[in-house]
Amino acid sequence: MGCQMNERDSETVAGILEELGYRPTDDRDQADFIALNTCAVRAKPMHKVFSKLGELRRIKQQRPNIIIAVLGCVAQVAQQEIAHRAPYTDIIVGPRNYSRLAQAITAVQTGADLITVTNTSEVIPEGLPVARTTAISAYVNVTYGCNNFCAYCIVPYARGPQQSRPAAQIISEVEQAVAAGHHEITLLGQNVNSYGQDLDDDCDFADLLAEVNRVTGLKRIRFTTSHPKDLSPKLLDAMAGLPKVCEHLHLPIQSGDDQVLERMGRGYPYEHYRRLIEAARERMPQMSITTDVMVGFPGETEAQFHNTLEAFREIRFDQAFMFKYSDRPGTRAAQMPDKVPEKTKQVWLEQLIELQNETAHQINEQLVGETFEVLVEGPDPKSPAKVRGRTCTNKIMIFPGDEKLQGRIVPVTAQQAFLWGFLGEIT
Ligand code: 5AD
Ligand code: SF4
Repeated sequence: MGCQMNERDSETVAGILEELGYRPTDDRDQADFIALNTCAVRAKPMHKVFSKLGELRRIKQQRPNIIIAVLGCVAQVAQQEIAHRAPYTDIIVGPRNYSRLAQAITAVQTGADLITVTNTSEVIPEGLPVARTTAISAYVNVTYGCNNFCAYCIVPYARGPQQSRPAAQIISEVEQAVAAGHHEITLLGQNVNSYGQDLDDDCDFADLLAEVNRVTGLKRIRFTTSHPKDLSPKLLDAMAGLPKVCEHLHLPIQSGDDQVLERMGRGYPYEHYRRLIEAARERMPQMSITTDVMVGFPGETEAQFHNTLEAFREIRFDQAFMFKYSDRPGTRAAQMPDKVPEKTKQVWLEQLIELQNETAHQINEQLVGETFEVLVEGPDPKSPAKVRGRTCTNKIMIFPGDEKLQGRIVPVTAQQAFLWGFLGEIT
């Protein structure tokens, strides 16, 4: 569940399990070990964890020897609730502690009751195994954790303080992924723009991109997530100047209202955000810009919500992940007064989604007839004679072709626009 960070963590967990002799299965009635890698970012994914855990109760009753592990952000922030509501859980390990997972599994295999490891100040070591699940693209962490403490956000509590990986280790992981057949790398961090601030050398994220760009055989570089308060002109120059770096920026805005941004502790007013987008588009006119936003932050008024709508009209995002604010226990926002009623949040969210869908459709409609370089990821799961891939701007392109195209970059002309991208034809 959750973000790309979690997907990458699951690949580490899979690697650890393979070293212990486990093999993956699609049939949970066959499994000797089931792990939920969980997300705590909003109330909804958190509820999903407990409903999934409920489903596992029957399996554990039928086969008491199966090992059930709860990993990830919910494991970290709600360990007691897990142990209480799902007492058949064997292992609870937080996202900072996978280096101790193998030991926990061995302990349970030899009779231990519940093993819990939730220490967010642990330094994540290099060299943990990885069993990658994607064919073309590969995830590589640049930082773990986050120091920002935005008022609404659980992540610093779930994933601990920022830890940057040494550049040499990152490059070596990229080289290994390329040698294993991956063509594209997505560099991951909660705030990639603050990469290196906790290291001794003076390699910042723009410098790191330049180094990754030098890796032979690598075709494309993506990264996520950027933070408007730390995004520098130097990084925009690097994006524009480095040929492998994709012209796509995911830059969460969260709100278009200065007072709300202030109370969120985001560290920038809307005008700063707007200027960054302007600076990015000056350098890369074709680039795509995507964002995260939430409606109904405590105390948010109708007029403040309208500033978010206005910002969306002004900036015109290619895509947006839009959420209703939800209280996360222990955060500053959870303590704030004047909570916005659920109904109002729902109405606002629908208004924003409608505006955003209209914009995205218009943007993509205007691109019909243009030809894009598409990196083919594989067969399209929904249409057998077609393949799917992504443009440099991170739009999905589906077009007739066979699996021999997988991993190749081919020119494809967009013929029909959708919210997510295009149907097209190879040129
Ligand atoms: N309520 C709603 N959305 C949230 N996000 C983070 N915390 C909350 C919360 N408490 C959203 C932000 C973030 C994305 C990953 O999830 O928009 O960028
Ligand atoms: Fe990722 Fe945040 Fe969810 Fe953790 S809580 S899995 S960091 S989105």
